[in-house]
Amino acid sequence: LPRLFSGMQPSADSLHAGNYIGALQQWAALQDTHDALYCVVDMHAITVPQDPATLRETTRRTAAQYIAGGIDPAKSILFIQSQVPAHAELAWVLNTLTGFGEASRMTQFKDKAAKQGADSASVGLFTYPILMAADILLYNTQLVPVGDDQKQHVELTRDLANRFNSRFGPTFAVPEPYILKETARIYDLQNPESKMSKSAASDSGIVWMLDEPSKTAKKIRSAVTDTGREIRFDRGEKAGVSNLLTILSAFTGTSIPRLEEQYEGKGYGDLKKDVAEAVVEVFTPVRARTLELLDDPAELDRVLAHNADRAAEIANATLATVYDRIGFVRKV
Ligand code: TYM
Repeated sequence: LPRLFSGMQPSADSLHAGNYIGALQQWAALQDTHDALYCVVDMHAITVPQDPATLRETTRRTAAQYIAGGIDPAKSILFIQSQVPAHAELAWVLNTLTGFGEASRMTQFKDKAAKQGADSASVGLFTYPILMAADILLYNTQLVPVGDDQKQHVELTRDLANRFNSRFGPTFAVPEPYILKETARIYDLQNPESKMSKSAASDSGIVWMLDEPSKTAKKIRSAVTDTGREIRFDRGEKAGVSNLLTILSAFTGTSIPRLEEQYEGKGYGDLKKDVAEAVVEVFTPVRARTLELLDDPAELDRVLAHNADRAAEIANATLATVYDRIGFVRKV
């Protein structure tokens, strides 16, 4: 089976609808046809300041949400990044192969650094995409399912794989990004010009997977639309309505053109009510299962530790080859 790798940062109490639609929902579907690894990237999370107790908590919560969202840890390898030291070790090697200018062109770094004030952004934030490349390349990954905000990082990963291979001999598989066009970007309900993001200034436009259903429904009913009345997909003219159609399509499996037909002659209120129902129907059991898993953190930790061992077996073999190719003297 083709090898697949993806990850999310444990940077909030709950995943949001963008993480679910753009990532988790697809991950669950892909694990049957792929040899999949799904990582909670805590080392990426610390590229911005984190409170230690909170990080520990959100890391477990993220892992629990992967499982509750459909990742089977007996099939896919579901693990915590910092439990497999090879990620940091390969990242160091790849750091030495990345140009300063090349890293400076990463648009997500520029956005995040601007938010923090360029001088206070950490060097870790700058080299973050290189750690991501290490995540992917350690497992000879062929496919990387992500939302489109991560596409540039996967391109960098491909460049680094090719560079290493041509300098030191064929070592890494060159991965492809896997991005579903329709769901590559879910937008903020209150501000449908910008993507739904954990780091948004206000949380009123974010649908959290672990929120109370009544809260979620209320947020969706208050989503920003436009002064027209037609329900059709048009990002330019109708950003809010288009976003609601995208969300409804993802949660019901009905295509957007089909939804446009169904909503002919209906109002925005009808659409919002249906989106709220569809989201609540999917998230309610996910929420219940997540809370259940978090009730037994020792068991969750055991599953994660076992999976980290499975991941390390693959990762350490790759790292040993890399160290050998670049000329490090290996311990006898
Ligand atoms: P992160 O934690 O920001 O987001 C996790 C995943 O959710 C997707 N996503 C969205 N998709 C659609 N609409 C949105 N509004 C939305 N917001 C987030 C992201 O595209 C991502 O797929 N650098 C990565 C984590 C990472 C990684 C990796 C991913 C580290 N190593 C290796 C793949 C392979 C990140 O910060 O994602």
